[in-house]
Order: sequence, then structure tokens, then C-alpha cells
Amino acid sequence: MKEILLRAPATVANVGPGFDIFALALKEPYDTFRIQLTDSNSIDIEIKGAKMDIPTTPTDNTGSLALLHLLEKLDIKSGIHIIIEKRMPIGSGLGSSGASASACVYGINKLLNLGLNANEIIDIARKGEVVSGGSPHADNVAGSLLGGFIYIKNYNPMEVEKIKIPSIPLVLNVIKKKERTTRGFIKGELSLSEVRDQSSGCSMVIHSLVQGDIEGFGRATTIDHISEPVRSNEIVGYWEIKKTILDAGAYGFNISGGGSTVFAICNKENQNEIASLLEKEFKKRGQTPHIITTETSNIGIGEI
Ligand code: HSE
Repeated sequence: MKEILLRAPATVANVGPGFDIFALALKEPYDTFRIQLTDSNSIDIEIKGAKMDIPTTPTDNTGSLALLHLLEKLDIKSGIHIIIEKRMPIGSGLGSSGASASACVYGINKLLNLGLNANEIIDIARKGEVVSGGSPHADNVAGSLLGGFIYIKNYNPMEVEKIKIPSIPLVLNVIKKKERTTRGFIKGELSLSEVRDQSSGCSMVIHSLVQGDIEGFGRATTIDHISEPVRSNEIVGYWEIKKTILDAGAYGFNISGGGSTVFAICNKENQNEIASLLEKEFKKRGQTPHIITTETSNIGIGEI
């Protein structure tokens, strides 16, 4: 049987000001995907690992939905069996659905020698995201596919750039959001001063990464007038906790992708201290924190 075994990393999308255009790939957590070509005429999905509420109907799962688009676009008939070993939290803004979509398209591209390049894989994979986040955003799928830091230069046609980055320590508190997606609550308009801040935040993110300035990068990730004002409403004590964590020496703090996980950008020396403080701050507010200490990684989806 023709098969491929892949590893796909979690991602922090938006990274502060880069709504739908920035993502960072993490070393951990990650999911694994065994993708097999079969003689059947259908796509079927098996979930292993922690029992989670992951859809297995082909049109409801981001991975198989992306594959349905791929098969239709290239007029391919093939049976596909996908075994997903879930290690990353779902519904928490860590790009679990994007990782599935990217891994499935990447895997079938390899198994069937389709010759798709990274931009083409991303453009198809993002269509799978519609069933999860309600929109074909490409940040998570691109970050998981390529690793490192990615920015989307253009959605039409899809053009993504990767910046290789040094290992940046992060602390996460994984928070599952109550709704499937909170995108619908985001307001469609910004004031001129918000546009100015958001644009300078995006420029600072890219400039500081290119310069290797992790402190400057962290500072830039604290800016956001699009997602943070809305998604912070779901997080108990968000603004107070953000201030406490930044005052304690974290370089940056914001909400990961669609939320409600929060992330802090740290350095190696203060990472454990920030992790303890973040845990304490959420506990103090009656929450049960799920703290992960991790780091960024330049390794995207690949065979294991
Ligand atoms: N850019 C997307 C959003 C990421 O903010 O909805 C979802 O993880």
C-alpha cells in the first residue's frame, strides 16, 4: 500500500498585528498523519490519540475537505485513508485544523507526484479551513507547511514568504474557545489611527525578525486592533494578565490565531518564570490553566 507518515506543527497565527497574514510554527505541540492511497472511491478518516471531538465526515473535516477540493480541481479519482494522531489541542487557536488541511494536501501531492509547489498547496489547503474557522484564511496552513515565520504577500494569486528565525521561547496558556469561531464578531472597519498602528506593527514584526531582534519582535506582537479587542472578551482578566506578564519581562503577549489561547514571547532566562506567573494569574481568577512552554521552529510539515 502506498502511504506517507507526516508530522505537522501547531502554529500561532496573526502574531499580534498580522491578521490572516502572519504565522509562527512551533516545535511542539504537533500532530502526525498517516495518509494512504486505497482502492476505495472515498476519503475516510480515523482519529487516534486523545479522544477529541474531531469530525470524520469528509466534508466536515478540514483535511478531507481540502482533499475534496484538490481531487476536484485536478480531476483525480483516488481512495484515501487518513489516520490522524492528535496531540495538539483543538478549537483553541493553535492551528490544529490548518495543520490537518496542509498535511493532507502535502501528503497526496507527494504520493501522487502532483508537482504542486508550496503556494499551490497552501491555496488548496486553505479551502479546508472554511469548515473550521468559516473562512479560507491561509496563515495557519502556510505556517504549518513551511515552518519558521510566514507572511502572506498576496492572497490572489497566493504568494507566501518564509523567514527563517532563531528559536524563540514561548509560553502558552491553552484556552478552548466557547464558539467554533469568533471571526464573525470582528468589526469590519478600523479608524485611521488604528490602521496606522496596525501597519507599523506589521512592519516592526518583519523588520525585527529580519534583524534578529527578538525583543523588538515581541514588542511588535503586542499591537492589534482587529482580533485582540474582540477575542480578549472571552478571556478572564485578559488585559490585567497581559500587563502583569509584560511588566514581568516578557517581550510580547497576545492571543493566538482565533483564540482563546494566549501566548507570551520570552527569552530562555525568563521562560519558566513567565510560565509560573501565567499559571498563577489564571488560577487566581478561578481558571484551570493549561500551560505549555515551547519554542518556535523552522521545521514545517515533513516525513517522519
Ligand atoms: N487569522 C485567523 C483568524 C486565524 O484570526 O481567525 C485562525 O486561527
